[in-house]
Amino acid sequence: KKITVTVIKADVGGCVGHSSVHSALIEKAQGMLKGSSLLIDSYVAHVGDDINLIMTHELGRNNGEIHQLAWDTFVACTEIAKKLKLYGAGQDLLADAFSGNIKGLGPGVAEMEFEERKSEPIVIFMADKTEPGAWNLPLYKIFADPFNTAGLVIDPSMHDGFIFEVRDLIENTRVNFSAPEDIYDMLVFIGAPGRYCIKRVFHKKTGEIAAVSSTQRLNLMAGRYVGKDDPVCIVRCQSGMPAVGEVLEPFTKPHLVSGWMRGSHSGPLMPVSMQQATPSRFDGPPRVVALGFQLADGKLIGPQDFFADPAFDQARQMANEIASYMRSLGPFEPHRLHLDEMEYTTMPQVLKKLKDRFEKLR
Ligand code: 13P
Ligand code: 13P
Ligand code: MG
Ligand code: MG
Ligand code: MG
Ligand code: MG
Repeated sequence: KKITVTVIKADVGGCVGHSSVHSALIEKAQGMLKGSSLLIDSYVAHVGDDINLIMTHELGRNNGEIHQLAWDTFVACTEIAKKLKLYGAGQDLLADAFSGNIKGLGPGVAEMEFEERKSEPIVIFMADKTEPGAWNLPLYKIFADPFNTAGLVIDPSMHDGFIFEVRDLIENTRVNFSAPEDIYDMLVFIGAPGRYCIKRVFHKKTGEIAAVSSTQRLNLMAGRYVGKDDPVCIVRCQSGMPAVGEVLEPFTKPHLVSGWMRGSHSGPLMPVSMQQATPSRFDGPPRVVALGFQLADGKLIGPQDFFADPAFDQARQMANEIASYMRSLGPFEPHRLHLDEMEYTTMPQVLKKLKDRFEKLR
């Protein structure tokens, strides 16, 4: 019997501004999911202004009914968000109506289907004020870096390594890399996380799914790419997969990610508890929450709020220091994102206004 874990997320209105989700929306979402006969179990979480629907079922990936349930839940939450005049009500629902599959309609999706093992620990990462490429560095460390993951060296069931499926979000292509032998080639691409994203990781020897992210194709609209948004990622742990602690370890060193303030700035990804998942300073810095569950016949036993552990205090401290340094750069790159990565820009208007003041040099 195969279990599918589906995580679908959307921002359908922030409270206050882009910092959090109003409890009325969380309660509505919980009620909608608990009331559905399609699911084995569900858990509703939020990080910043994004609602994350964590669902287990037996209907497989890309199931129309499951995607419809998530869509209807976000639509119902949007109605409340509109009544409360929350900020950006319905912001991530880009389509007017649901049409079979939620992909491309705005919400982010990560799903994996597998035979539940004797014990099935999973970690669900959810981030705000960043983009899907934010998982590239931690996924590389978890599944390919022996200085992070001891099991790659000392566990016979992991020693052969993992396969990485990487997507080019602009050309809409995919390519597989085999670690460790292809890592230098792979890093050429995944070191550019605004374009190349790790979509899936597979155990090399068994072919089992190990991780999946909410990476979505980018659509060129109005001269800029849209479809990058606050991402989620599911990772299976233990028994041939990395240990829970190996999966969490990369987040002890906050790396720089894109998506802070107006989606147009770079900043450190701070690991936080659910309670601390309320980005406020300059609408950030970007946050990541890690919820752990043991699956039991599809039931979600948990969650454990991993980054509530005081062992992550130092990472938060480091993130605050990096945040202050990045903020000191103000409107200069690399705090401000490169021109073609900004969500907001005044460049066309300013160029137009000043066009007569530009002199051609020869
Ligand atoms: P325990 O001995 O506590 O089960 O830990 C096993 C382990 O390898 C943790 O990484
Ligand atoms: P969200 O993508 O989380 O809505 O944040 C928007 C933003 O740019 C806040 O400054
Ligand atoms: Mg928002
Ligand atoms: Mg958000
Ligand atoms: Mg958003
Ligand atoms: Mg954003």
